[in-house]
Amino acid sequence: MDQQQKFQILIADETHFHFAETIVEEMAESAKARGTGIAKRSPEYIQEKMKEGKAVIALSEQGEWAGFCYIETWSHGEYVANSGLIVSSKFRKGGLARMIKKKIFELSRQKYPNSKIFGLTTGLAVMKINSELGYEPVTYSELSQDEAFWAGCKSCVNYEILMSKNRKNCMCTAMLFDPADHYEPEETKEFFEKKSKVLERLSSFKQWKFLQPFLKKESGGGPVKSFLYHFFHF
Ligand SMILES: CC(C)(COP(=O)(O)OP(=O)(O)OC[C@H]1O[C@@H](n2cnc3c(N)ncnc32)[C@H](O)[C@@H]1OP(=O)(O)O)[C@@H](O)C(=O)NCCC(=O)NCCS
Repeated sequence: MDQQQKFQILIADETHFHFAETIVEEMAESAKARGTGIAKRSPEYIQEKMKEGKAVIALSEQGEWAGFCYIETWSHGEYVANSGLIVSSKFRKGGLARMIKKKIFELSRQKYPNSKIFGLTTGLAVMKINSELGYEPVTYSELSQDEAFWAGCKSCVNYEILMSKNRKNCMCTAMLFDPADHYEPEETKEFFEKKSKVLERLSSFKQWKFLQPFLKKESGGGPVKSFLYHFFHF
């Protein structure tokens, strides 16, 4: 990516409606390329978020679409998710996702100061950015139990795995920021830096384990086991 490129990071509105189709296509293409699951969104849904002032869009100096993310509320506003983060493949690896996530996080805090902010992701980049904002890894039981939220996973290729685990675990890592009880961003960032190798290995481990349903459950303890159990409910 052109390192000199400067981006506008904006709260999206009706003037950005024409980007909705491109955003949805990029989301689908990226999910396909990664071979991972994703909750599918329609262009109309993206436009609705823009209209409600619940989305952040990044534009290049030339006015091209460069990235996007939006807010969803669950459990009557008790929870907020910053979902659908996507950066155009042309503009990746330049810090854009970090800028977009920061902006959507600030917007979420401003609109919903008492809500818990959470996300589900398989991506290490997103885990890293989240931990810089003060999110910590949690078990799925600490997320919104709103049926409508989990219904969003139905279009994901891993939905059967999620259901076979009674919604307690799946390929994604759950992360949460609780305004009433949270670590400082410096602490969660440090935690991530120390554990990033473990998280990376864990991601591969989940793929291996979840795709072998007949495998016997591991026995034994030790620090790695308790780390896995605490955060990921193995
Ligand atoms: C994931 C995604 C949003 C990252 O966007 P980006 O603009 O390239 O990310 P950034 O440049 O802001 O990177 C943030 C950090 O994550 C790291 N990172 C970026 N992509 C990474 C990857 N694929 N694997 C591991 N780390 C990665 C970067 O190195 C950076 O850390 P650093 O500054 O300490 O080096 C982008 O690749 C994308 O849109 N992917 C497809 C959709 C997707 O996976 N969305 C997330 C759904 S939860």
